[in-house]
Amino acid sequence: MSRTIFVLNGPNLNLLGQREPEIYGHETLADVEANCRACCTEGFDIRLLQSNHEGQIIDWIHEARHDACGIVINPGAFTHTSVAILDALNAFEGPVIEVHVSNVHKRESFRHHSYVSARAEGVIAGLGIEGYEAAVRRICSLLA
Ligand code: DQA
Repeated sequence: MSRTIFVLNGPNLNLLGQREPEIYGHETLADVEANCRACCTEGFDIRLLQSNHEGQIIDWIHEARHDACGIVINPGAFTHTSVAILDALNAFEGPVIEVHVSNVHKRESFRHHSYVSARAEGVIAGLGIEGYEAAVRRICSLLA
């Protein structure tokens, strides 16, 4: 069985550290990758991926069916719009944790609803990039 955790990131997260730092902070996706790799339990590995395209994210979730034991996903704005990402996650059997860098519940009302939450074992919002590490740790402990 695969011991790889996919850490999937949706649109605009390639600009983490550059866009709206007052909301999303100054750390980059490269920092997220290094921190997640450092915090996963021995025997597990992470593969961090980012795309601005919904179909690409869906294709990676399909790949995860064979190549990953768990998924950490920050779907970005697709969180609030994508039934297709929810459907793809429903076809994945392992644990899924949803992460948001910002506290979406403190922001505009259109950010309060998530399609992905209906599938996720856990939802983390507002911890900055530390949320990704908490999510990776949780997946490792769920699969231990
Ligand atoms: C986000 C929150 C979303 O509402 C937004 O569209 C993003 C990032 C977050 O990490 O806080 O792109 O998922």
